[in-house]
Amino acid sequence: MGESTRKQILNAVGIRKTYPGVIALDNVDFDLFEGETHCLVGKNGAGKSTLIEIISGSVKCDGGKLEIFGNEYEHLTPLVSMSLGIQTVHQTNQLIEGMTVAENIFIGDLKTNRANFFSMNDCVKSAMEIFDFIDINLDPKRLVSKLSPVEKKILCIARVFAKKVKILILDEPTASLDKEVEDKLFKVIRNIKAKNVGIIYISHNLGEIFTIGDRVTVFKDGKKIITRLLKETDEKAIINDMIGGKTQKFLRESRIIDNEKLEIRNYSRKGFVNNVSFEVKKGEIFGIGGLVGSGRTELARLIFGVDKKDTGELIYKGKNISPKTPVDAIEKGIGMLTENRRKDGLMVEAPIFTNISLVKLIKTKGAFLKLAKEQKEAEHIAGQLNIATPSIKQIIKNLSGGNQQKVVFAKWILANADILILDEPTIGIEVGS
Ligand SMILES: Nc1ncnc2c1ncn2[C@@H]1O[C@H](COP(=O)(O)OP(=O)(O)OP(=O)(O)O)[C@@H](O)[C@H]1O
Ligand SMILES: [Mg+2]
Repeated sequence: MGESTRKQILNAVGIRKTYPGVIALDNVDFDLFEGETHCLVGKNGAGKSTLIEIISGSVKCDGGKLEIFGNEYEHLTPLVSMSLGIQTVHQTNQLIEGMTVAENIFIGDLKTNRANFFSMNDCVKSAMEIFDFIDINLDPKRLVSKLSPVEKKILCIARVFAKKVKILILDEPTASLDKEVEDKLFKVIRNIKAKNVGIIYISHNLGEIFTIGDRVTVFKDGKKIITRLLKETDEKAIINDMIGGKTQKFLRESRIIDNEKLEIRNYSRKGFVNNVSFEVKKGEIFGIGGLVGSGRTELARLIFGVDKKDTGELIYKGKNISPKTPVDAIEKGIGMLTENRRKDGLMVEAPIFTNISLVKLIKTKGAFLKLAKEQKEAEHIAGQLNIATPSIKQIIKNLSGGNQQKVVFAKWILANADILILDEPTIGIEVGS
């Protein structure tokens, strides 16, 4: 079907949203046709999440209007938005691991039988209907904890079909999936498109938007820059729209020092990590690969002292310095950036500055910090990492997702760790940074 014959189902016109010191959305337009995938891209803090929150009714805009299926709305509430068939799948899977697939679909409005009792059979039957509808193969009786990462993501998408779905918003659906399994997810997205659902697809992975998208809109600093047909453009043009031609080639300087090295010897934890050893020289970046679930995060947590190891020694400059706890690790000059920034990495109610300085505070064992100097250093690092914020006094939870991740990075840089463990550091980070 050509563009012209398709029905426009959403038209956002002149949307404005301001936060103290930040224009999150500056008069942006965005539209969606039935049966298309419209990708939304842009640097961290560009306003992508703010727009989808306005469309899903959880944030109120300051100006502009939303036309949905021909009706005009100044504001939506989550309930109105959902009743119009607008459903969002968030980046983090909100699943209950100890329950079955079917139960996870109907949590919230658990299927009841006539006597108002929860009926497992009904649940399973309804789940099968959904899976048939979008043509996927999942056993409703399986425990969620037994699913692979891509199956969990597919379940998160499938379960919104327990409600009416006309507009599906996917926020970085591939962010914690392996490249090889993305095809499975894309197949599901194509099936959903074939049901005439319009899909808004947010991603920092420009490669994949060419695989899955029909159109792309680029936001920059709260403004809409352009909307393009993906079949008529290329990655270079989009990067140019996003960051304005200022791509820098990253030159890797190698200054490996042979005689100062770190040795990981025989790390084990039953059921997770089995006798892992390797060496890293000073100045070297050592990559640990493997599929999601293969034990990479578990190994990092053992080394940093988060979990208790059964065996293992960390030898640095000839001494055994195996940390017993994360605080012990930090005092010994080891840092770790985790893949789960909200849970492990940040105090979300505290300002950027406090978060950046925290590790250094632990490292110096609470000795007084020279505040003015600290603040200047923190500002410098925030600037180097392009953290988009009016001030480093901003509270973390007010930052965009990618900018929160940059703060985690900044605190380890300021702490000057000798050994830095990075677990998926680029999830949600813009190209360029
Ligand atoms: N509750 C809030 N209070 C203050 N500022 C906010 C709030 N929510 C968002 N912002 C600001 O609005 C701007 C847009 O943020 P938004 O989350 O929409 O960006 P994004 O494009 O989704 O970025 P990312 O790729 O990092 O997720 C940012 O500068 C952000 O700091
Ligand atoms: Mg976002």
